Amino acid sequence: MSDQKLFTPVTVGNNTLTNRLAMAPMTRNRAHNEANAPTDLHAEYYSQRASAGLILSEGSQVSQQGMGYIDTAGIHSKEQVKGWKTVLDRVHEKGGVMYCQLWHVGRVSHAYFQDGDAPVSSSAKNAGGKSFTPNGFEPTATPRALSTDEVVEVVEEFRRGARNAIDAGFDGVQIHGANGYLVEQFLHDSINDRTDRYGGSIENRARFLFEVLNAVIEEVGAERTSLRLSPSNLMNTDNDSQSKALYEYVIRRLDEEYELAFLELVEPLADLSNHEHLAKNVLDTYGPLYNGVLMTNGDYSREEAIAIVEEGKADMVSFAKLFLANPDLPKRFAINAELNEPDTATFYGGGEEGYTDYPFLDEVKVNTE
Ligand SMILES: Cc1cc2nc3c(=O)[nH]c(=O)nc-3n(C[C@H](O)[C@H](O)[C@H](O)COP(=O)(O)O)c2cc1C
Repeated sequence: MSDQKLFTPVTVGNNTLTNRLAMAPMTRNRAHNEANAPTDLHAEYYSQRASAGLILSEGSQVSQQGMGYIDTAGIHSKEQVKGWKTVLDRVHEKGGVMYCQLWHVGRVSHAYFQDGDAPVSSSAKNAGGKSFTPNGFEPTATPRALSTDEVVEVVEEFRRGARNAIDAGFDGVQIHGANGYLVEQFLHDSINDRTDRYGGSIENRARFLFEVLNAVIEEVGAERTSLRLSPSNLMNTDNDSQSKALYEYVIRRLDEEYELAFLELVEPLADLSNHEHLAKNVLDTYGPLYNGVLMTNGDYSREEAIAIVEEGKADMVSFAKLFLANPDLPKRFAINAELNEPDTATFYGGGEEGYTDYPFLDEVKVNTE
């Protein structure tokens, strides 16, 4: 095995991880049951990937209202907790460590998931995106703005999600603060037009995020709490007119006032050529502001991941698509073996195909070039 730092242990919250490679959160739309509970198939999929230093679960809705796509697993009901318990038992049996990503899609939803009602958001603005429903991709619905009291209730739903996750055996939780979902719907002034304490100034727009963080930390401890942010994201949002000032404020505050298990920052995944106000390199821009355990994500190669950790720019690197296609990614990376190609056709929905049938390395082909 390699002696590069990427393949060495790191302490994250209560856990000592065997390597610095994480499986990034991935929605796979395979909770095909009335309860949207994880199944034995989920347990097989995640346990196959237990050699990751850390697994981040698929985004798991903290309430029915927080659901936006068909067959996503939740973390708000007894059946869901029971399903996740099976998953965690299997992952732990193999020595894995796994956090639950707590998700509320806000406006990126459809009346189908809301009993015919409008989804909720910071403001009544349509995402102009697509929601994956039983009838295929359909336009997102125009949301209604949450009342001030309802915002407090949603904060409590995150708290309950965190409690449920720990009860199910997860080692910690990750608040999904990325990709245009509810947290970004509060953060970004392209969406948030509120006039109460959750809108207006940067501090007010960040209030929802920090209230969610505080509630989750109060419930399960900072050492089991992490956060994912995508400061230059353009998915489901036009981001913020003062994006750099906004994210500097958030990340400085995280650094000064919190001791999270880790912070995960996602690199821009879209073309930013017409968006000069967004940071082109998220890690270089915001990484230096944060002294805690830092994870980076976004279209990296093996070599880039090795270099980033070696240079101390981040403590961990998470991979989504490559982990999806390579259950034994740490081993493959360590020996520079060939990689399976991810099949985009089976990313969302379906069964075992493209989920639990990616081959492990049986014959090791070492790349010596
Ligand atoms: C199939 C699929 C599902 C995803 N679902 C989620 C999700 O539930 N939560 C999230 O934060 N990001 C999600 N992402 C984004 C990934 O976590 C990651 O940020 C992105 O794919 C870039 O990383 P990569 O280049 O290693 O794939 C998803 C990506 C893919 C490919």
